[in-house]
Amino acid sequence: IIKPDVAEKGVAGEIMAVLEATDFRILGCKKVRLTTEQAKAFYAVHAERPFYGELVEFMTSGPVYVMCLEGEDAVARYRALMGPTNSDTARAEAPDSLRARFGTNLQCNAVHGSDSVENGVLETDFFFSKLERV
Ligand code: RTP
Ligand code: MG
Repeated sequence: IIKPDVAEKGVAGEIMAVLEATDFRILGCKKVRLTTEQAKAFYAVHAERPFYGELVEFMTSGPVYVMCLEGEDAVARYRALMGPTNSDTARAEAPDSLRARFGTNLQCNAVHGSDSVENGVLETDFFFSKLERV
């Protein structure tokens, strides 16, 4: 997901170019504005975390681009490409990462990525029908 902090900054194409240049295939892609209910459901794993309310508010604050990506070792490679959760840490530790380049701070960190293959399946099923993943 290209998150609301950057989705309307004109960098979505640049982020997708990085993905394509690093051997990810974009099987599905669309721009959506999540409702509060959808954002709550998507981040249900974080329901007990203190930042859940803020996260839901942030993720519904503007449109996002959701993508279904395919690639060799995709989960681990994409998480490395994103960099650490906090964009400031990313700038210190992984300056070429997407969060270092496009993110602002801990919450406004430009991109989301699934943290396991299992969650990747659940999360792409959440957004895409089979017809939309080609
Ligand atoms: P993501 O799920 O978005 O790919 O990020 P992640 O795995 O690196 O981090 P996670 O722990 O899953 O947190 C999900 C998102 O919640 C926001 N966050 N806010 N205020 C806070 O303490 C805090 N911590 C995390 C970030 O937007 C993070 O990406
Ligand atoms: Mg996560």
